[in-house]
Amino acid sequence: MAGHSNYVPQSAAAKWLESRLPVISLVRGSFVDFPTPKNLNYWWTFGGILFFVLIAQILTGVVLVMHYTANTTMAFDSVEHIMRDVNFGWMLRYLHSNGASMFFIAVYIHIFRGMYYGSYKAPREISWILGVIIFLIMMGTAFMGYVLPWGQMSFWGATVITNLFSAIPIVGEAIRTWLWGGFAVDNPTLNRFFSLHYLLPFMIFGVVILHVWAFHTTGNNNPSGVQPKSKQDTVPFHPYYTVKDLFAIIVFMILFAWFAFYVPNYMGHPDNYIEANPLVTPSHIVPEWYFLPFYAILRAIPDKLGGVAAMFGAIAILFVLPWLDTSKVRSGTYRPLFKQFFWIFAANCVALGYLGAMPPEGWYVIFSRIFTAYYFAHFLIILPLLGFLEKPRPLPASISEAVLKGGSGTPAGATSAPSTK
Ligand code: HEM
Repeated sequence: MAGHSNYVPQSAAAKWLESRLPVISLVRGSFVDFPTPKNLNYWWTFGGILFFVLIAQILTGVVLVMHYTANTTMAFDSVEHIMRDVNFGWMLRYLHSNGASMFFIAVYIHIFRGMYYGSYKAPREISWILGVIIFLIMMGTAFMGYVLPWGQMSFWGATVITNLFSAIPIVGEAIRTWLWGGFAVDNPTLNRFFSLHYLLPFMIFGVVILHVWAFHTTGNNNPSGVQPKSKQDTVPFHPYYTVKDLFAIIVFMILFAWFAFYVPNYMGHPDNYIEANPLVTPSHIVPEWYFLPFYAILRAIPDKLGGVAAMFGAIAILFVLPWLDTSKVRSGTYRPLFKQFFWIFAANCVALGYLGAMPPEGWYVIFSRIFTAYYFAHFLIILPLLGFLEKPRPLPASISEAVLKGGSGTPAGATSAPSTK
């Protein structure tokens, strides 16, 4: 992360610190002087937005825990106590529950941004892989957090998902019992989910540091996909991107606040306001919206083990994406065919999300199978072939040229400037 700072300590105290722990030059090198491509568009603000939401989740979560009780006889009531008795408890809870949804909105945009602009390609494979690890831990954290209020969906969601592990041959049943800490989802399950739900966000934080370290080592990608070639192609991170990120965070906060204060239960399920009852199964067990595409893939396969493998495979395939895309051109901006398939893929994911919310019957099942097949075909057939079949548009000689010729998101008719090869 460091290595770019022009920082020279001035005061005696700063010199003393710098020679013992160069933390000021590390921060300056990473977030002040860091040379950043000058053409990053607003899709690049989602990394900063994600960081903001992560911190907000940790802060609201830590305070919620001061009033929450992780015991099956008290969990549901303790959440009602937070909502009714704790000062601003309702606000903390709604910020935290909607914060989870906002986190996923931001992460999906961030992932699709990476896919469109080829941010996963060499030399940024490690940034991407660390991102997929973050995504996996996020899913685990959100799943376990949803169990904590101990409502009907908490209980039955946990039951359905933990039962999936029993599909694994030979050791499946043993794994399920081990996860439950007994023979059903019960108090030991709630306790361990609580413990892990508290721990994992800090692990995410740690992996985020590695993630940032990795793309600060390679330098950021940018909408043109062309590496910066001269000083003219970059600007210092501060004030240009600190201000731009801050502006985007404020706009995002408006959306966040709208959900948390006006429609706080819009993204939740009403059944979770009924206390968990192992003797009454809800008519439809649906996960939170952000799991729906994966839930559709799980149910599309008629065989339980096959469904579990497809669901985990749908995420695992992201790890090898950098090697499945054979194109030499990084950014989708210069890939006319890829661009079209990218949008078809995005629509396919939204369609899977819709199907995940529908009952697994009739045409819904047929379409889930078609869209699941397409999901995998995109990675395993379309992307590898496109690299050979597609004729990309000519690349700009430099970022400056891309910006000034309107090659990457600048207004048409912008005047040309001398090339800075
Ligand atoms: C807590 C979650 C995450 C945080 C806080 C985070 C943070 C960031 C930040 C600050 C950036 C630089 C600015 C930007 O490009 O938007 C970035 C870049 C990147 N992120 Fe993430 N990220 C997260 C999750 C993910 C996930 C889940 C993926 C992919 C599966 C991912 C893939 C990438 C890639 C490939 C880049 C490099 C883009 C470039 O070179 O400019 N990130 N991330």
